[in-house]
Amino acid sequence: MKMSKRFSSLQPSLMLKIFQAAAKVEDLSNLGIGEPDFDTEPDIIEAATKAGMEGFTHYPPVQGYLDLRKEICRYWSKKYGLQADPEEIFITCGGIQCPDLLFQALLDPGDEVILTEPCFTAYFQQVEYNGGKVVPVPCHEKNGFAPSAEDIEKAISPRTKVLMLNSPSNPTGAVIDRKTMEQIARVAERHDLFVLSDEVYESILFEGKHISFATLPGMKERTLTVGSFSKSHAMTGWRIGYAIGPRDVIRVMVTLSIVKTFSVNTMAQKAALYALKTQDQKIRERNEIYRERVNYVAGRLNRMPGITCLKPMGSFYLFPNITGTGMASEEFCWWLLEEAKVAVIPGICFGESGEGYVRISCALSMDKLARAMDRMEEALRKRLR
Ligand SMILES: Cc1ncc(COP(=O)(O)O)c(C=O)c1O
Repeated sequence: MKMSKRFSSLQPSLMLKIFQAAAKVEDLSNLGIGEPDFDTEPDIIEAATKAGMEGFTHYPPVQGYLDLRKEICRYWSKKYGLQADPEEIFITCGGIQCPDLLFQALLDPGDEVILTEPCFTAYFQQVEYNGGKVVPVPCHEKNGFAPSAEDIEKAISPRTKVLMLNSPSNPTGAVIDRKTMEQIARVAERHDLFVLSDEVYESILFEGKHISFATLPGMKERTLTVGSFSKSHAMTGWRIGYAIGPRDVIRVMVTLSIVKTFSVNTMAQKAALYALKTQDQKIRERNEIYRERVNYVAGRLNRMPGITCLKPMGSFYLFPNITGTGMASEEFCWWLLEEAKVAVIPGICFGESGEGYVRISCALSMDKLARAMDRMEEALRKRLR
């Protein structure tokens, strides 16, 4: 079949190629996984089953159930001081649907989107598929991978429409502090930018404080906050997230979504409502587990030849610098898979500024992480002897 001219050259991504190759490796140590290793808590599953038995099996409202939207308002107000009303909330098919609909709603062909990089891989395609142009702004290791307001301002042109921020970050684990956020807010105001604030890892924090960008003065009316149940509640498979944003933007996103997804799975919405009300203690417990894991892996990596690694402030990823090995990030990953049966993701997958790094996920038990670190260390010591 002849594909459209726009998409005829689509190729599987490097990340997908690594995952496919890794799937064929027996006895693999998989540090590539971007989701919690924990299953969804049984009581959340029960809440979904109960809702199904009570008849919640029909089309839900397109914007999402009102009780869930109200609960999301309560959660963000209590935790971060973000005041929103249910009309400003939109329940989506995972957090990933929010930026896609936002770009579709806001971008005219050729409009520019600043991506603070390295970043979640989907953003590059989402901007492109919606007719926009990606303008990357690298976040440097020397700044703990946090973006700089000055660098952002330098990248702005008359076509710049949206600025994407992601804190805590996938893949670096960076958390943007209040001072930097305030500086960025002033830039957004000066240049009339709309801000896409991806906060899907808000609940997984080891250090510092999560600042929700929309709570900064003047930012609520120009920010779309992206939330999700995937990482916080170990609910990746339920495909449920949400956007919090200005009514006019939400209204257009909701309308656009009708022809794409119509609405989000009723039982997942009811499970999410239950989860938001009941899981704070579980989230704290899992964070302590992630903290122990990332500290352990950072410690191990920093004792390996050719590698240095910052401790992440949030998320469950580490982004070690591998330049000391003399290999580029893609070469490093293929080599590690072959030599040590350890899968990690090349930093280049997250944008050009990710070159020289790899992403390691700590969504594995301590014994599996220890085994992966032993294998990696042995391979590196052999190679760099
Ligand atoms: C930074 C970031 N944003 C958004 C998403 C989308 O997650 P979901 O669609 O499962 O909510 C992910 C998933 O890995 C992510 O890492």
